[in-house]
Amino acid sequence: MESDKRKILTAKDLSKTFSNGSVQQHVLKNLNLSIYKGDFTVIMGNSGSGKSTLLYALSGMDRPSMGTITYYTDKKNGDNKEIEETEISTFNNDKLAMFRRDHVGFVFQQNYLNDSMSALDNVMVCGLLKSTDRKSLAEKAKRLLHNVEIEEQDYRKFPTQLSGGQQQRIAVVRGVINSPEVLFADEPTGALNSQNTENVLNIMSDLNNEGQSIVMVTHTIKAAERGNRIIYLADGVISDEIDLGAYVGDYKDESNPNLAEAKDRHSRLKAFLQDMGW
Ligand SMILES: Nc1ncnc2c1ncn2[C@@H]1O[C@H](COP(=O)(O)OP(=O)(O)OP(=O)(O)O)[C@@H](O)[C@H]1O
Ligand SMILES: [Mg+2]
Repeated sequence: MESDKRKILTAKDLSKTFSNGSVQQHVLKNLNLSIYKGDFTVIMGNSGSGKSTLLYALSGMDRPSMGTITYYTDKKNGDNKEIEETEISTFNNDKLAMFRRDHVGFVFQQNYLNDSMSALDNVMVCGLLKSTDRKSLAEKAKRLLHNVEIEEQDYRKFPTQLSGGQQQRIAVVRGVINSPEVLFADEPTGALNSQNTENVLNIMSDLNNEGQSIVMVTHTIKAAERGNRIIYLADGVISDEIDLGAYVGDYKDESNPNLAEAKDRHSRLKAFLQDMGW
């Protein structure tokens, strides 16, 4: 798909091969993909199709076996805004870690919060990797926690003293504390009950509406519907994709003013997935 939106990154001829003893498993196979600014991109596909592997490669959590990943980031040069191109696929671990700190956020299925730190400190520690201005960072962290409906009385609680849904909302805040170019999420609602799933999806939609670019892997139509661009991965290659347009609310909510459009999006997504053999 060619888009007139600004590119955030382009993966070219991406391959990932794992060696299990003498057996080589080709998990990603010459995959080509660009991610665009402002999009809520969703990646679906059967278990084992390579979704997590793709996400880790795109986000610089892991390196591909072959191919390139080029990021296009804003470089402020006086009054001129230039785009800086960075090819990350050959970076060593330190350079990758620095690149992730500056440009990428991540949310996993498990929240991976540090149990020995308060909710607020879990967010702060990540922010302090990039910023030394503790005061404005704390303000930002509290504002974001407030936005995801974490109450002030819970800022000092440890993750184990909070519900699974609260923990995942804190993990999302941690993912965006450094204002990443793109937030990657690997089944962020996979371990949540339906109410918490709804909350976290609402937060992802809110973030996207405020301009946050998101790439999310999911197994559910409910989560996928939040995206505007759905990509289907099969056996390490992109089978097809669909442009759904922006999320317009729940297709089952009779009070939704965009109900007709919501229903149309839902049935187009269902038909697409059916075509994909999902
Ligand atoms: N570190 C690794 N070492 C060896 N094989 C791996 C490794 N990571 C993934 N694989 C293999 O690569 C294939 C794709 O894995 P991946 O985790 O990307 O799939 P997925 O699409 O995310 O699946 P799921 O929906 O179950 O999360 C699997 O067969 C898996 O066993
Ligand atoms: Mg996975």
